[in-house]
Amino acid sequence: MLDMASNQKYPMNRIFTSLVVLSFALSIVSCAYHVEDELYPPDVCDTINVTYSGTIAGIIMTQCFDCHDAQALESGIPLEGYTNLKSMVDANRLIGALRHLNGFSPMPKDRGFLPECEILQIEKWVANGAPNN
Ligand code: HEC
Repeated sequence: MLDMASNQKYPMNRIFTSLVVLSFALSIVSCAYHVEDELYPPDVCDTINVTYSGTIAGIIMTQCFDCHDAQALESGIPLEGYTNLKSMVDANRLIGALRHLNGFSPMPKDRGFLPECEILQIEKWVANGAPNN
């Protein structure tokens, strides 16, 4: 008899414990969600106000100059300055390299992809005719 009574109590305890654990987990998940929202606002990528001097030159300097500055000792392909970069655009080598397309050398070399936003900004600039603005 005693055994049966404690057996009946067990399921209730389990359900209660499960609910506590579940609500705790949910509160952590919702917390993480809000923090992520603040860290990565969904519309942070500006592909409207893209200019060579304000957007593109900075990306190329930060991500590519290790191998593509004016000397271009690592690659033999200087991308420093508007004229150098524009010649790669005109040769149709830039976007294919950044998108790692077949027939292109994937860039930045051995470093995976650029952040998607930076690729989108470069694509927008090229689509605009790669102006020197
Ligand atoms: C670690 C060195 C390194 C970095 C960083 C790097 N490149 Fe290169 N890049 C090279 C080398 C070396 C080549 C010559 C081709 C090869 O060996 O893959 C090259 C070739 C290229 C080419 C010609 C590709 C083709 O298929 O014709 C383009 C365009 C290019 N790089 C753009 C970039 C851009 C844009 C960045 C920055 C986002 C970048 N690279 C970062 C080393 C690098």
